[in-house]
Amino acid sequence: MLEHIDPTAQEALSALENASDLQTLDQARVRYLGVNGQFTALLKQMGSLPKEDRPKAGVQINQAKKKLEALLARRKEELEMAAAMPSQETDFSLPGRRPILGKCHPLTQVTEDIVKSFRKIGFVVADGPEIEDEYHCFDALNTPADHPARDSQDTFYIQSPERPLLRTHTSSVQIRVMENQPPPIRVIVPGRVYRRDTADATHNPTFHQIEGLYVDRGVTLGDLKGTVEFVFQELLGKDVKLRFRPHYFSYTEPSLEIDFSSSLTRKMGKEWLEIAGCGMVHPKVFDAVGYDPDQWSGWAFGFGIERIAMIRYGIGDIRLFYENDLRFLKQF
Ligand code: DAH
Repeated sequence: MLEHIDPTAQEALSALENASDLQTLDQARVRYLGVNGQFTALLKQMGSLPKEDRPKAGVQINQAKKKLEALLARRKEELEMAAAMPSQETDFSLPGRRPILGKCHPLTQVTEDIVKSFRKIGFVVADGPEIEDEYHCFDALNTPADHPARDSQDTFYIQSPERPLLRTHTSSVQIRVMENQPPPIRVIVPGRVYRRDTADATHNPTFHQIEGLYVDRGVTLGDLKGTVEFVFQELLGKDVKLRFRPHYFSYTEPSLEIDFSSSLTRKMGKEWLEIAGCGMVHPKVFDAVGYDPDQWSGWAFGFGIERIAMIRYGIGDIRLFYENDLRFLKQF
């Protein structure tokens, strides 16, 4: 048996040394040092040696065992390290991959600019629901039940006894704001609105508006004009001119439409473009929210955000805003 020790140890050493991955290394360990391993078998045979041979064999076996265990530990570390290395060489001096940074949608950009301008002159942003009731969208705004704006052709009603609807304008939020707080009031309301329109170059069933409402003592149309002029000049340039034309809205008296002219409208081939509706808040609207019309006066306006974005950027088709085509969106 003594003569087997060295050859077996040699064999085991070279098997461990030559193992090229952790799996082969472990197979070699089991084959020689495992419970039924070839080297372990030698250890077990010690008992059957003649007494005088045992010390010599013991020393030899122990030395060989130590060597094997040391080699096993070293190879294990080496192979573990190798396994942890990337399979392909990495060049850490290469430039990194830049994440693609998104941007706000052009409508959001325009909305934010409008809000910024109004904030400078003391307006705060208010919000209201897109699913409205008829009262806030129409009745409280002095728009009675037989008014054509309530025709089912004009908006989307939800089938339920209370007849909720998708708001046709942000004017409903005027009522909600006044119901919730006493005057004075200076708010703007950006938001989405809905109409039963067929989409074409200038219409879409959903679009966005900004409503404005200013209520205080002694408010005049002059204030309205000055405010709107300030904001539009900030938004669309100093050469902006505004024109106020008489119009009709049931919630304002008098009511006006605002036309707008600048180098931008001339570029679109027009001198004047209609851009907003506005007027002095109708006394019946104040009545509906419990404000005393003899004490309080105010004005309101509403304009379409898409319209302004189209003028600002020279966009000819409103539908481009909703198609999410990156070739379009990347330009802003
Ligand atoms: N609600 C109107 C529309 O959707 C716009 C409007 C006109 C709002 C006059 C107002 C206003 O606040 O006073 O066309």
